[in-house]
Amino acid sequence: MSALGKGMGMIRRVMALALLLLPLAFLASTSAHASARKTADGKVTRASGRCGSCHPDERVAFEKSRHAGEEMHCTSCHGGNDQTVDEAAAHSGPNWRGKITRAEDPKICASCHSDETRMQPYDLPVDQYDLYQTSGHGKGLAKGDGKVAVCSDCHGSHEVLSAHDPSSRTYVTNIPRTCGTCHGDSTLVRERKLKDTYHEYLGSVHAKSLFDKGNLKAPTCVSCHGVHGASPSDIRNVNKVCGRCHTAERRYFQAGPHAAAMAAKQMAECSSCHGDHGIAPSETARLATSCVKCHAKGSKDEVLGATLLATYQAAEDEIRKAEALVAKADAVPLRTEDYKARIEEAHTYLREALTAAHAVSPEGMSGYTERAKSVGEEIQEELKSKLQNITVEKIFLLVFWFYVIVTIGIIRRFRDADAEVVK
Ligand code: HEC
Ligand code: HEC
Ligand code: HEC
Ligand code: HEC
Ligand code: HEC
Ligand code: HEC
Ligand code: HEC
Ligand code: HEC
Ligand code: HEC
Repeated sequence: MSALGKGMGMIRRVMALALLLLPLAFLASTSAHASARKTADGKVTRASGRCGSCHPDERVAFEKSRHAGEEMHCTSCHGGNDQTVDEAAAHSGPNWRGKITRAEDPKICASCHSDETRMQPYDLPVDQYDLYQTSGHGKGLAKGDGKVAVCSDCHGSHEVLSAHDPSSRTYVTNIPRTCGTCHGDSTLVRERKLKDTYHEYLGSVHAKSLFDKGNLKAPTCVSCHGVHGASPSDIRNVNKVCGRCHTAERRYFQAGPHAAAMAAKQMAECSSCHGDHGIAPSETARLATSCVKCHAKGSKDEVLGATLLATYQAAEDEIRKAEALVAKADAVPLRTEDYKARIEEAHTYLREALTAAHAVSPEGMSGYTERAKSVGEEIQEELKSKLQNITVEKIFLLVFWFYVIVTIGIIRRFRDADAEVVK
């Protein structure tokens, strides 16, 4: 047994020792960490002075920020004396603020960011604080609501970066998550029974465009709510907000009966049909199915919706048939580039028909559906005759070759018969 047994015994002893030492090692590491915070044994740098020697985490974050290097120091926000390693002396002086409360946070940032002479060299606007006061957040803070967003919630307190920096909390693709820490699945949302706007947004066509297609022009929270003046859009302003990007839809909407009707009934314009955060991708069947959300079944408005859809589908059918013929022609093969370009054009008309449908009038829409339909029909006509010609040619060739083969056969027969006779 001996060699193996001795080996096992050794392993057991080493393991027991390790188990004994583990908690000791842990204790040693935590006390080392504690002393790093309490005694001044960290790095002393120009930006952080001696504060950073006792507060290494804040120093590291601060020194990566946009602020460090712009003649800013820990004392610019916290006050105190950064030339001493004596804690009491460091944390004192007439301007020592200590920990910054949420209530004073915006004022401290504004002490520089609302100062034109200070910001002008950087070409930075100085309106953030004023806009903030007009926002739901600023108004809430003024009333003593400590849960609303303050400047450092969205920008960080030490790791403040420019919005152009992809690792910034305010970089376009990070904005939804920054707002979502509070407006998502949070205790705040649960306690106050608010909507989980963040997760609704994540499911939207807008979020898919931003995240999946990398379209940085797709709206984030601040495109619709404003950056520093974040407030809900007034219901009568929703069409303007959406219309910043969807100009044509807004134009048709305003030309139709819904603009006045919705204003009178205090309905949230575009959103009462599309929703606000979880906007779904386009789905043409809704031309008919969405009307009964507000209009009675069997009403003239529902009938109108069905007519709009039928008109649309009639045009779409013609394009489908044209596409099928193009596929056939491709198999021949025939040159089809020109037809494909025209089909593309027809799809653009169809798309514009959906946009024009916002005026809910068949006349407004039929201009586009008619054009789409006629392009589809023209392509079908031209291709049908081309394909027909080809079929005729094929039949002709078939007959021709059949005739040639039969003739060769007959000639051979006669030649063979002649040979037989000669023998
Ligand atoms: C000798 C070490 C030391 C120095 C130097 C030092 N601090 Fe501190 N600081 C501490 C300790 C210890 C605490 C207690 C809380 C903790 O562990 O974070 C503290 C707490 C703080 C707090 C939180 C106060 C609170 O009420 O919670 C702030 C803010 C702060 N320090 C900023 C500074 C700034 C700014 C400087 C430089 C001007 C500085 N400190 C210099 C050791 C130091
Ligand atoms: C642009 C302003 C600004 C600067 C510059 C700044 N801080 Fe702060 N600091 C804040 C704000 C705001 C808070 C409170 C919010 C928070 O806890 O994140 C804070 C919190 C702290 C705290 C308390 C952290 C806690 O968890 O309780 C410490 C310690 C601290 N800062 C140290 C420093 C040190 C050291 C520096 C320099 C390296 C520094 N700060 C530079 C704005 C600043
Ligand atoms: C002592 C003055 C001062 C204070 C206080 C201050 N900042 Fe700044 N901030 C600056 C300067 C200077 C810059 C550098 C501008 C630059 O380089 O673009 C800057 C840059 C920024 C930027 C980057 C702007 C950009 O696009 O480049 C943001 C964001 C910012 N600060 C937010 C804050 C926040 C949030 C607070 C409060 C927690 C704050 N600042 C407090 C002076 C200050
Ligand atoms: C609810 C989140 C939020 C709050 C609160 C907030 N900001 Fe911002 N801030 C942003 C976002 C997002 C951007 C980037 C804007 C963009 O993409 O145009 C930004 C941009 C900035 C910029 C750069 C401006 C520019 O045009 O380059 C500065 C400076 C700034 N904020 C300072 C502040 C100050 C000071 C406060 C407090 C008074 C504050 N912010 C409060 C979200 C916020
Ligand atoms: C620190 C948490 C926090 C963050 C981060 C935050 N918010 Fe808020 N927000 C709140 C709270 C709290 C309210 C008030 C909710 C209530 O009780 O009605 C609020 C209210 C709002 C409102 C409604 C305002 C009104 O007038 O009713 C809008 C819109 C809003 N936030 C948008 C945003 C956007 C956009 C962002 C990101 C750029 C953001 N919030 C980031 C906490 C936050
Ligand atoms: C496409 C535009 C759009 C986008 C993007 C958007 N919102 Fe909204 N939001 C709206 C509209 C419209 C309303 C409703 C305004 C009304 O009815 O008065 C609203 C309402 C809100 C409210 C108030 C909700 C309530 O129940 O009172 C909050 C909070 C909010 N949005 C936060 C966010 C956050 C956080 C994001 C990003 C994750 C976001 N929104 C993205 C358009 C948008
Ligand atoms: C900042 C610009 C912007 C704003 C503001 C905006 N959108 Fe969009 N919207 C887009 C982009 C970009 C797309 C995605 C296009 C794509 O990638 O297919 C889109 C897609 C859509 C689609 C789906 C279209 C399709 O073909 O599937 C609908 C519906 C829509 N938005 C409605 C709205 C409504 C309603 C509002 C206002 C509450 C709004 N949008 C605000 C830019 C915007
Ligand atoms: C009465 C309900 C209703 C209202 C109000 C409404 N829409 Fe639509 N919207 C529809 C229907 C129905 C469609 C066609 C079916 C589809 O594409 O999902 C559509 C399609 C769209 C599309 C995709 C098709 C296209 O045009 O590219 C966008 C984008 C859009 N709407 C934006 C808006 C905007 C912006 C507003 C406000 C100015 C608005 N809608 C108001 C019902 C409405
Ligand atoms: C979100 C609610 C809503 C939806 C969805 C909606 N409508 Fe309307 N519509 C109204 C309101 C409100 C009026 C004002 C008259 C009323 O109260 O019936 C109106 C009026 C009209 C009118 C003006 C003539 C009339 O009846 O007074 C037409 C036409 C119309 N709608 C067609 C449609 C069609 C077609 C659809 C489907 C594509 C549709 N609507 C979807 C709310 C809606």
